[in-house]
Amino acid sequence: MRIASIVGARPQFVKAAPVSRALAERGLAEVLVHTGQHYDPQLSDVFFEQLKLRPPDHHLGIGSASHGAQTGRMLEAIEAVLATERPDWTLVYGDTNSTLAGALAAAKLGVPVAHVEAGLRSFNRAMPEEINRVVADHLSALLLCPTEAAARNLKAEGITRGVHLVGDVMYDSALYNLRLAEQRPSPVAALGLAERGYYLATIHRPANTDDPERLGRLVGELAQLDAPVILPLHPRTAKALDAGALGGPRGSLRPIGPASYLDMLLLERHARAILSDSGGVQKEAYFLGVPCITLRAETEWVETVEAGWNALVDADAVRLREAIARVAAWDRARAPFGGSGARRNLYGDGHAAEAIAEILTRPQEK
Ligand code: UD1
Repeated sequence: MRIASIVGARPQFVKAAPVSRALAERGLAEVLVHTGQHYDPQLSDVFFEQLKLRPPDHHLGIGSASHGAQTGRMLEAIEAVLATERPDWTLVYGDTNSTLAGALAAAKLGVPVAHVEAGLRSFNRAMPEEINRVVADHLSALLLCPTEAAARNLKAEGITRGVHLVGDVMYDSALYNLRLAEQRPSPVAALGLAERGYYLATIHRPANTDDPERLGRLVGELAQLDAPVILPLHPRTAKALDAGALGGPRGSLRPIGPASYLDMLLLERHARAILSDSGGVQKEAYFLGVPCITLRAETEWVETVEAGWNALVDADAVRLREAIARVAAWDRARAPFGGSGARRNLYGDGHAAEAIAEILTRPQEK
């Protein structure tokens, strides 16, 4: 059996690594296709190195463009690869333009699609990712869900065949790589920080970066926090900040370059709290038992909010300050934002990738 895996953006490298390992352990041949959506070494090469992903069999070199142009170029290039490679399955991950292009190219060629991280919904169609998720799910023969909420979302859209609750491959990756990260020099010490003596923030969603007023408000709030705020910058955020939003006093803000995966895990683990608009970072905060303050109005990872470990504050200064006050008053016997305190295993047992590899080898219902 041959499986084509389509990746292209930073979080997809994190998701694909445990799956690649699990496929290899079962003796399944994998053709790794990198669309080139992320091309900066700090967003791509460093991840391949740290995650021990073998170099892609096909690098399509597509790069940045408008959504339609980027997705269209990927579609054409992925189709050519799949037409030659003729895999038994195409695996797509998450919700980026690479996911959409991979799912569409495969489905049109009659190659069955398996979607890792199926069923996530923000119910906000203004997010490009929401469109990618909905389309990818409706094109997939196998829907590999990380959470119960994801499987429920699919059911609500009438998708019940081929749905499997497997757990979250990002949890697999975090467990596996945290041990490796801890053997490396600590980025916390390198930045002159004490454990729990800083906040970690990331902002990269277009809804936050492309609205100068909103970005300025968020950055202004972060600058006033009571401890250093480490801010690893996505290239788009860096551009937006250079264009003006960082014009005010920087206060507590400490912008740094994009963090590697292993450094990010350690920066997350030792932060007092994490403030982010990223999906993956919200989950990693939960895995590591660190309070997360989400700079969005909604989340796909609703269980972290229900468990009291994630506060949705949007770009609202009052709600952000309230959440910070809750973290300061947190007694650790409970969850920081309410709830019982015990962190349930919401994302599986750390073996989601093995479950995926096993499901791929089963005879499929027609
Ligand atoms: C993509 C995903 C998003 C995911 C994120 C992870 C889509 C629609 N979005 O967003 O879901 O959370 O990846 O990081 O697919 N750029 C560089 N260097 C690079 C890549 C991009 O400088 O290597 C800059 C370019 O200016 C580009 C911009 O970042 O225009 C946006 O990149 P793009 O690939 O379109 O999406 P992301 O914002 O990274």
